Amino acid sequence: MSPSQAPLLPVVVLISGNGSNLQALIDAARAGRVPIDIRAVISNRADAYGLTRAHEAGIDTAVLPHRDYDSRDAYDRALITLIDRYQPELVVLAGFMRILTDAFVEHYIGRLINIHPSLLPAFRGLNTHERALTAAAGEHGCSVHYVVPELDAGPVIVRARVPILKDDSATELAARVQVQEHRIYPLAVKWIAEGRVVMREDGAYKDGEPLDTPPTLDPEEPFEGF
Ligand code: GAR
Repeated sequence: MSPSQAPLLPVVVLISGNGSNLQALIDAARAGRVPIDIRAVISNRADAYGLTRAHEAGIDTAVLPHRDYDSRDAYDRALITLIDRYQPELVVLAGFMRILTDAFVEHYIGRLINIHPSLLPAFRGLNTHERALTAAAGEHGCSVHYVVPELDAGPVIVRARVPILKDDSATELAARVQVQEHRIYPLAVKWIAEGRVVMREDGAYKDGEPLDTPPTLDPEEPFEGF
């Protein structure tokens, strides 16, 4: 089956904020570049601008405030129940700023992905742009990876690098990284929707080959149209 005939992969996107990565996915899906059906956008914050983006695109939204729950376990159980109503085959974390329980991750293992603002395995966790500047890393970037219980440690699918420029601020660097995020997230989701990328017990595979050395895009490098 050619990619254009592939059935649309049902997807749920989780956000906490602006939702610019969500927007990149909406735009790519609408343009027919990524064969997905975004069935719902779920936020833990009612004021997340990404909810407005979803409304404008005619996508179902739901808010599940974490403050309404006594424990992380209880929240994640409720989140699973909500997500599973939409029967997604892929759950996309797009700036969903919560640590997930092992039970949540295990429930979706192999169909849960995240975008992280660093060239993994460098700079797992928060404040990646500041840390890259402090470390005088030379280059920085972003990574799409499968989620495993250990934070930001799952198999990487694709990365994009950006140079660190003289006198860069964290804000300037973050903006440059986000431009690349908006390329590689739709690209990774496309590969998964087309069945080209999968996660197995021993890691991620693309076109049947282990993704031990994931592709790392350069800023201006055109890559499969992204
Ligand atoms: C993105 O830059 C993403 O890499 C980061 O949150 C931002 C969300 O932006 N995610 C993490 O830091 C996860 N640890 P967006 O809401 O505009 O897509």
